[in-house]
Amino acid sequence: MTERNFIPKPYKNSIENGSFTWSSPSNIALVKYWGKKKDQIPENPSISFTLDNCKTTTTLSYSKKENLNDFSFDVYLDGDKKDDFKPKIETFFKRIEAYLPFLKNYHFKIETSNTFPHSSGIASSASGMSALALCLMSVEKELSVIQSDSEESQEHFNQKASFLARLGSGSACRSIEGDLVVWGTHKDIDGSSDLFGIKYPHDVHENFKNYQDTILLVDKGEKQVSSTVGHDLMHNHPFAARRFEQAHENMSKLISIFKTGDLDAFIKIVESEALTLHAMMMTSMPYFILMKPNTLEIINKIWTYRTKTNSKICFTLDAGANVHVLYPENERESVMEFIKNELVAYCQNEHYISDQIGFGANQIQL
Ligand code: DP6
Repeated sequence: MTERNFIPKPYKNSIENGSFTWSSPSNIALVKYWGKKKDQIPENPSISFTLDNCKTTTTLSYSKKENLNDFSFDVYLDGDKKDDFKPKIETFFKRIEAYLPFLKNYHFKIETSNTFPHSSGIASSASGMSALALCLMSVEKELSVIQSDSEESQEHFNQKASFLARLGSGSACRSIEGDLVVWGTHKDIDGSSDLFGIKYPHDVHENFKNYQDTILLVDKGEKQVSSTVGHDLMHNHPFAARRFEQAHENMSKLISIFKTGDLDAFIKIVESEALTLHAMMMTSMPYFILMKPNTLEIINKIWTYRTKTNSKICFTLDAGANVHVLYPENERESVMEFIKNELVAYCQNEHYISDQIGFGANQIQL
């Protein structure tokens, strides 16, 4: 499979206008994507849990236009026009134009809203770009003469949606299909690809069903360093090569952990991946720190609680100060009690979001 597989045959249908709405979830990586090559190709494979409650809903309205020289679109968040979102979408459109040759034929109105607060410090690029990619795929499906809902065309639809989402934001390609999603070629995962995410194809133990994720909002501000800049700093990073190898090794270990349900081993990989991600930031040049004092307070509290109670609670981090607290469903009550009593005090305005891994519910067309 290469990029060329995603260049469509000439469209047969002609449409004046219409609209599509998709809702798509965010995801949290267990093995992290940090470092990329040209064209959004990841330096290493990553795997993520799909979140059930953190979603973006996007309506894409399109109408034929005369001038075919430029992209033309407006973006709205919760009904407010957002011109500051436009450069990122313009870049996205440029990257995907070869794969969606209709883009300059229409004016688009992109209306989007998130189930989580925009200012929560939760990255909305994964859910946002995947929802937009799905809407664009619906337009393409309409323009293509074969309106088949066969399994094969459904597979192509999802694969291409993931391929496009990747070109918007790497992690977004892991939000299209599946509750556990792999992106990036790995020797033990058949069908894995650098071009798009795939549903994790191996066995997953009961222990991971309905896994819980409580997101502790330590800092709701804008990140000082964007992910894109962070990825870039992995070029010429002194530890990059070893880090990319380690991600492959951790992925192999996770395959047997998912099979056996070994939660102690799971914790070790997940926490080590989170700290390694931040260690890469701290050892790049220029170096930077995205954790806050309260991030460390929370991590230490989690470790103490785990030692005291033998809980299987653990944490992971994305490229920010917020902490994702992960735990099995059977510990839901006790861990929520612990979070409310001991961790919420470290959150900005005591704000947290309870989520769980979306076994089943995923992206939906509305
Ligand atoms: C730390 O997908 O936001 O969340 O491809 O530049 O848009 P771009 O980066 P992005 O990077 C996310 C990195 C991460 C780890 C992960 O999700 O795997």
